Amino acid sequence: MRPSELVPLNRLREERYGKILCYPRHDRSELTRRLKELKGLGVKSVEFGGEKMAFDIPVLGKGYVGIVIVAHTDRGKVALKVRRVDADRSGMQREAEMLRRANGLDVGPTLLDTTKNFLLMEFVEGTLLPQWVEALRGRGTRSRIRRVLRGVLEQCWRLDEAGLDHGELSRAPKHIIIDENDCPRLVDFETASVNRRVSNVTSICQYLFIGSQAAKIIKKKVGEVDRKELINALKNYKQDRTRKSFKKILRVCGLDKVDRYGCGRSPSR
Ligand SMILES: Nc1ncnc2c1ncn2[C@@H]1O[C@H](COP(=O)(O)OP(=O)(O)O)[C@@H](O)[C@H]1O
Ligand SMILES: [Mg+2]
Repeated sequence: MRPSELVPLNRLREERYGKILCYPRHDRSELTRRLKELKGLGVKSVEFGGEKMAFDIPVLGKGYVGIVIVAHTDRGKVALKVRRVDADRSGMQREAEMLRRANGLDVGPTLLDTTKNFLLMEFVEGTLLPQWVEALRGRGTRSRIRRVLRGVLEQCWRLDEAGLDHGELSRAPKHIIIDENDCPRLVDFETASVNRRVSNVTSICQYLFIGSQAAKIIKKKVGEVDRKELINALKNYKQDRTRKSFKKILRVCGLDKVDRYGCGRSPSR
């Protein structure tokens, strides 16, 4: 990975960084407003680093709505999602509200603060799920993967139960981070909604076990899931969204006997 660059707030006025904070174009008055917001959020510096590039600057993530970078506050290292100036959203409040609800279910990075153009959240240090699975070797591999998969499914179950649809789990190569304690963390609640039919469990099963690059890797490491049986179990769950139907899915995926899949920030996990 490229080395990251730590830039204090007062140096962010430079056009080179303005282009990132006001992505995709530098805009002096907008940048001034945004730097004020950052100050209000207690941001002392930002760190440009990561696998993605925004122009010639490395960042954690780049999507249609935001750029994700690392920031430093008195609380330490955090993740900062920056609203693109050309985003079709007027502010970050809605995403923040979705993340706040997810946090209530012990899902997602902890929301720390939000302004019109920024969302400040816990920085999840870890590896994206497909790469994490791929890299595992040796004894205990299967059970570690199964525990993580069970954890992911349980989080999706909680979201389903609460009526909060993540919206981007059917193709989620960048939306599940496994942290250093083997805890899976779902990120990006930008397209989440409480106003549509939930499909977290069905989407994630599709992604993890049926049709994706990740599904291939998982199959290679923990064995095949009976596709027909899984599709039936998912159909059944769609009609009858109960814990019993969910357990049937777990059985078909070989995850029903997994124990210690909780990640213990709260006793309910
Ligand atoms: N809280 C976080 N901690 C660590 N990395 C994160 C965090 N939030 C997002 N990321 C990384 O940044 C990428 C982009 O974030 P995401 O919220 O998906 O942005 P977008 O809405 O633009 O797709 C993610 O795929 C993930 O790799
Ligand atoms: Mg995303």
